[in-house]
Amino acid sequence: MDRRVDDALSRKQAALLADAGRYLAGGGLGLFVLPPERNLVVARGEGARVWDVAGREYLDYHLSSGPALLGHAHPAVMAAVAQQLPKGTTYYFLNEPEIALAKRLVEAIPCAEVVHYAGSGTEATLYALRIARAFTGRSKVLKFEGGWHGMHDYGLWGTVPAQPSAYPTAKPDSVGVPGQAGETVLVAPFNDVQRTLAILEEHARDIAAVIVEPLQRVLLPAPGFLEALREATRRLGIVLVFDEIVTGFRIAWGGAQEKYGVVPDLACYGKAISGGFPLAAIAGRAEVMAVLDARSRPREQVVWATNTLNGNPVCAAAGVAALDVLAQPGTYARLAAVGSRLREGIVAAGERHGFEVQAPGEDAVFGVRFTGRRPLSNWTDLTTADKQLGWRWAMALLDRGLLVNPNEKFYISIAHTHADVDATLAIADEAFAELAKSRQA
Ligand SMILES: Cc1ncc(COP(=O)(O)O)c(C=O)c1O
Repeated sequence: MDRRVDDALSRKQAALLADAGRYLAGGGLGLFVLPPERNLVVARGEGARVWDVAGREYLDYHLSSGPALLGHAHPAVMAAVAQQLPKGTTYYFLNEPEIALAKRLVEAIPCAEVVHYAGSGTEATLYALRIARAFTGRSKVLKFEGGWHGMHDYGLWGTVPAQPSAYPTAKPDSVGVPGQAGETVLVAPFNDVQRTLAILEEHARDIAAVIVEPLQRVLLPAPGFLEALREATRRLGIVLVFDEIVTGFRIAWGGAQEKYGVVPDLACYGKAISGGFPLAAIAGRAEVMAVLDARSRPREQVVWATNTLNGNPVCAAAGVAALDVLAQPGTYARLAAVGSRLREGIVAAGERHGFEVQAPGEDAVFGVRFTGRRPLSNWTDLTTADKQLGWRWAMALLDRGLLVNPNEKFYISIAHTHADVDATLAIADEAFAELAKSRQA
């Protein structure tokens, strides 16, 4: 990994960071900002790597928080976008790429009979809940503690609570979220069938949807959990929504539905479906999605879920190209092989240096957590992880050229190779060694 920095480029990066601090609210893009001495401005990405403006090379395990499943600037995606650009970037009328992508999504996603486009994962989950409310005539939704569904007012309850929530109520995650929104959001502990079913039975008449990340951040669904949700929602007339924004086309071609063998009524897709371009989608059963259909119902009974740039041809063309690449035989086996070697190697390195460390999740997306708690099955279990150690380990990785989001996830792309895994494991070992040394001091 090239860690040399050129003085002039270093000054250029420092000036850009100063401007970011001056002109961007919070100095960055949202909740997560690197400390000033390690902050960086990305100049370019290619494959599994990015380079900062100072000229430093990083092996990227953040992948833009997931979308870069093909790696950066994949030639097939670039070619598809380059072909579309001269024809225009947006029309807000039907276009060929958007229809082609819809067809591809319906063919690939087990629950999909039709799809509807959105601009971001946040919009997709917001609209999925609205669709479920319209379909059932009920107003409440149930989510799980620790589950992340984006930034709208119905998603930000009990996502990262300091204390376990008082199920089925939870605290808002963000200031500015109105308490009234929380009156329509019930929260249950992930993987706890008994408590979830008790809440569902008690509030069934009011519940429109259960929304769940089938792989909740890095927590695997316990055997029978998703099946129990499927059975109960079907019995109680509730719409089951899988949030596949992370898992879709990542943990399997057919996402979590295929991997875990449970098919919801609706599923939300984003991140990897459009080759790194901003596009999301809701996929689902035609009967439920019919509430979007202005052809067959009076305007006042149609769910409004339209946005100016939805299904624009550039993002859709990128999506079709990305899915064509992912559909090639052997893609998912290779992704899993690279990811599993990395997970196992990181855990082994941590243990060699005396740390209780685990790498929960799936091979293509997992976390590294400093905790001895087993099994890790809900949010409370995850709070046993030592976040300070996690942070310091991540900083040691960054210093050695691995781009990671501390205490979050490792995302693997199809561009990561076994040689990258070797390099990463050597770095991970050094970082654990540094941590062990400072613990002794
Ligand atoms: C599971 C899940 N759902 C929804 C979202 C929101 O997606 P977006 O950031 O595109 O709004 C995210 C974002 O990370 C996510 O991880």
